[in-house]
Amino acid sequence: MADDDDLIEAGRLLFAGPIDFELGVVDMSSLPGGDLPEVAFAGRSNVGKSSLVNALTGRKKLARSSVEPGRTRELNFFRIGDTLRLVDLPGYGYAKAPKAEIGRWTALTRDYLRGRAPLKRVILLIDARHGLKPHDKDVMDALDTSAVTYQIVLTKADKLKPTELEATASATREAIRKRPAAHPEVIATSAETGLGIEVLRAEIAALA
Ligand code: GTP
Ligand code: MG
Repeated sequence: MADDDDLIEAGRLLFAGPIDFELGVVDMSSLPGGDLPEVAFAGRSNVGKSSLVNALTGRKKLARSSVEPGRTRELNFFRIGDTLRLVDLPGYGYAKAPKAEIGRWTALTRDYLRGRAPLKRVILLIDARHGLKPHDKDVMDALDTSAVTYQIVLTKADKLKPTELEATASATREAIRKRPAAHPEVIATSAETGLGIEVLRAEIAALA
């Protein structure tokens, strides 16, 4: 249970230690060694993946974020001491970038998500204002097929009223109930207010 005090403390300690950008990868042959478990952040362009990595690590500029969709164009690996790697992925959907480049990073992201042995969990980000979209469902289908466990995290919760947020969270929980690889818990987060960040740290610490 991620809300146990011990796990919250483990999460706090994990993210209080050294965390560094390790490398950016543009093809499958350049992935780092499989010596550490990996947790990857996936979701539509602009949903807040890089911002969430920054909020978790408490470092505003560790991962580069932008108001323009299509900021992250490589698989960016961040190393948490000798414990695990966080992977900030490029987004899917609309991006402000040349088509050929979008195609390249989309294929790379798909290959990574499908066939990466050290990948312990995908954190699948969904904008709390919009809920699950068809493209998110396609990604969940692929993860279900590859038996890669994923957990839904709602982002930008600060933009909703508490009742609206709870409605999206429960609709999302219901939508994933029968999906084989979906973690049943849905976490609402805000990179702005810090909502849900310590619970997500605890979830990640439990995988280390
Ligand atoms: P790509 O790399 O382009 O796929 O985007 P991304 O998913 O990494 O999104 P990014 O973190 O770059 O954030 C996109 C925009 O959303 C930025 O303008 C962020 O400031 C904003 N944003 C991210 N998280 C939050 C949040 O929790 N609350 C609010 N209000 N804005 C957020
Ligand atoms: Mg990004």
